[in-house]
Amino acid sequence: MNPKLCTETYNHSHPASIETYLSLGGYDAWKNILQNKMPRSKIIEKIKDSGLRGKGGAGFLTGLKWSFIPLIEGQKYLVCNSDESEPGTCKDRDILRYNPHSIIEGMLIACYAIGASVGYNYLRGEFMDQQWKVFNEALKEAYKFKLIGNNIISSNINIDIYALIGAGAYIVGEETAMLESIEGKRGMPRIKPPFPAIKGLYGKPTIINNTETLASIPKIMLNEDGWYKNLGLNKSEGMKIFCMSGHINKPGNFEIPLGTPFADLLKSAGGISNNRKIKAVIPGGSSVPVVKGEDMMRINMDYESIASAGSMLGSGGVIVMDDSTCMVSVLHRISRFYYAESCGQCTPCREGTGWLYKILSNILSGKASLNDLEQLNRIAFQIEGHCICALGDAAAMPVRSFLKNFWSEFEYYVDKKESMVS
Ligand SMILES: Cc1cc2nc3c(=O)[nH]c(=O)nc-3n(C[C@H](O)[C@H](O)[C@H](O)COP(=O)(O)O)c2cc1C
Ligand code: SF4
Repeated sequence: MNPKLCTETYNHSHPASIETYLSLGGYDAWKNILQNKMPRSKIIEKIKDSGLRGKGGAGFLTGLKWSFIPLIEGQKYLVCNSDESEPGTCKDRDILRYNPHSIIEGMLIACYAIGASVGYNYLRGEFMDQQWKVFNEALKEAYKFKLIGNNIISSNINIDIYALIGAGAYIVGEETAMLESIEGKRGMPRIKPPFPAIKGLYGKPTIINNTETLASIPKIMLNEDGWYKNLGLNKSEGMKIFCMSGHINKPGNFEIPLGTPFADLLKSAGGISNNRKIKAVIPGGSSVPVVKGEDMMRINMDYESIASAGSMLGSGGVIVMDDSTCMVSVLHRISRFYYAESCGQCTPCREGTGWLYKILSNILSGKASLNDLEQLNRIAFQIEGHCICALGDAAAMPVRSFLKNFWSEFEYYVDKKESMVS
């Protein structure tokens, strides 16, 4: 049985309560840091050495990111990114719902390590009914137990954490758009550099980390050096939650060692439903390139292995499609999402996403020609790498990979004006 970092409370009768969390060694890492006055640099080194990579999509090394914060005194901020809006991704909502104290403890440790006295957790608007309430209740408990606030455990350390809620825009998950939104402005990405670690929230040094990243911190700090790193398989380091959805028997979140063969993960998720064949997999949320099913069955769930299959691990949202799937319809649906969610700030993304969606709509309504398929590729190529933020790439990469892997299906649709898949 592998240790669970973020999902260990799930089987308890009151998973989100502070009593459950404390009974599992919760807040021990935080108390240990305060009681031993652990130097900030030691924490950053430990997180760096653990090999922990950001779980929000880009997979950037967490300790390295923290080390970019200037050492000078002054106001700094931590922001936890709980916006989770990438289609196919549903892990952060469960951590918020079932293990909110792991996020709070991770945020406290991160605040301490970077020298921030204030942390914000920004939740997506749709979490208002459930996760928002559970997280705020957990915050109240942590204050009641004096694990947060002023002079925590007589350490002279003051840290406050606030929860904020968005208004339903995918783009606010992009870290600088999130900062704009927290400042009360329209959530639109900033041009980088400067990066947030130098000039972030209200112009002050700021670290933004994903919910799963921060929830992984307490266990890493509690265990001996090398523990987290060695949880990975086949030369990979650490763990990851994969959100399994699509044509499978047991959809859900699976926290497993990085490097686990995809075939084993699929088996844990009950295999393909209705005894059909696997056709394609989007391994890291809707914005990453699609991979053919047979190629996926040969690789492991880690950054390098998925990259070797031409895709990305992204946020860990694994969308499995069986042989009844019409790839033209899937791409049409994905393109509509990015068109709707573009903030409109840069021309290639604003105009290009609409153009892609229009051509795909024309294919579905039998009004497209073969030239339009080349045009799709050309537009995607012009968007990729030419925008302020990665939403442009997120719109372009699926288009290019769907065409590359399933060209004949697109050709058939244009020619016969109907799907190849009945
Ligand atoms: C369009 C767009 C949407 C994003 N949405 C999210 C999101 O919902 N949650 C998240 O953690 N990161 C999201 N990201 C990535 C963040 O910008 C940022 O890299 C991440 O929160 C950093 O945390 P990490 O280093 O722990 O992964 C998004 C990026 C882009 C370009
Ligand atoms: S790439 Fe798209 S979403 Fe990102 S800033 Fe430009 S227009 Fe906005």
